[in-house]
Amino acid sequence: MVANSAGDGAAPAAVGAAPAMTGTTVAYPPLLQLRGVGRNFGPVQALIGVDLDIPAGQVTALVGDNGAGKSTLVKCISGIYQPSSGELRWKGNPVHIHSPRDATNLGIATVYQDLALCDNLDIVQNMMLGHEQLKFGILDEVSMELTAKQTLHDLRVTSVRSIRQPVGSLSGGQRQAVAVAKAVMLDARLVIMDEPTAALGVSQTELVISLIRRLADTGHAVIMISHNLNDVLAVADRIAVLYLGRLVGVGPAAEFDRQSIVDLMTTGASARLGNGHGSAAAIVPGARTGSEG
Ligand SMILES: Nc1ncnc2c1ncn2[C@@H]1O[C@H](COP(=O)(O)OP(=O)(O)OP(=O)(O)O)[C@@H](O)[C@H]1O
Ligand SMILES: [Mg+2]
Repeated sequence: MVANSAGDGAAPAAVGAAPAMTGTTVAYPPLLQLRGVGRNFGPVQALIGVDLDIPAGQVTALVGDNGAGKSTLVKCISGIYQPSSGELRWKGNPVHIHSPRDATNLGIATVYQDLALCDNLDIVQNMMLGHEQLKFGILDEVSMELTAKQTLHDLRVTSVRSIRQPVGSLSGGQRQAVAVAKAVMLDARLVIMDEPTAALGVSQTELVISLIRRLADTGHAVIMISHNLNDVLAVADRIAVLYLGRLVGVGPAAEFDRQSIVDLMTTGASARLGNGHGSAAAIVPGARTGSEG
């Protein structure tokens, strides 16, 4: 299996070793590290012993079949669920993220698959919810409207008629765009997107993909969950594959091709890796990228 195939030189990074030498550069601890993370729902083991590094300045695509545990993993990072076992480290230090507020305070912004937007509030109110701007102790509507407008403009989200429109009246694609814009506006260090392009048309998908690229290029860590391998191969620097709650492959995107990703997603292993197609040694749980820092 890929996870156990690191036999030719590059051993998996030692748990807790940071900074470490990789070639000639010193690799600082990745922004976020997961070590042995598990999560049970009663008898269901949604996550089992996940070791994963999330470096700044890179897009990590998290892929897996329905029910593989992707959303659960993201919810453990963003304070919705507590891991049943294992540890999260932020900038090398162990952290306990008990709530979404803890995650926000660390610098983690999440756009959920089920889009936690309030239908009865308008676009500005949704984007500012929990981050309202005040002037002389009262809501600064003008400033908030300008900030929201500018963010949407920067994302080239031009299809909404009015930013004072209730979110409940928006199309699926427009709702997604608002949720993505909100994450961008919060200027987080780690932006997590659960199926950011699932509800988007072709041109909006392209915009979101270029936005994701821009986020990483400006030093953010990005985790993108996607079923769309075109999007994954277009934008990911690293790919992590979950299969029935286990991380069965992780490494630089260049080490994977479409078929190896599909193999890992559907069977938990790929014969294409470790038999001359790329270096399977790099594709091990928790493998460092060597490019952080
Ligand atoms: N709140 C919950 N209670 C019980 N079981 C849950 C809960 N949330 C997730 N699970 C189970 O955990 C497993 C992983 O679910 P999860 O939603 O993380 O999958 P996913 O990879 O995001 O799937 P999808 O691609 O369909 O969104 C599934 O077996 C699911 O039924
Ligand atoms: Mg999901």
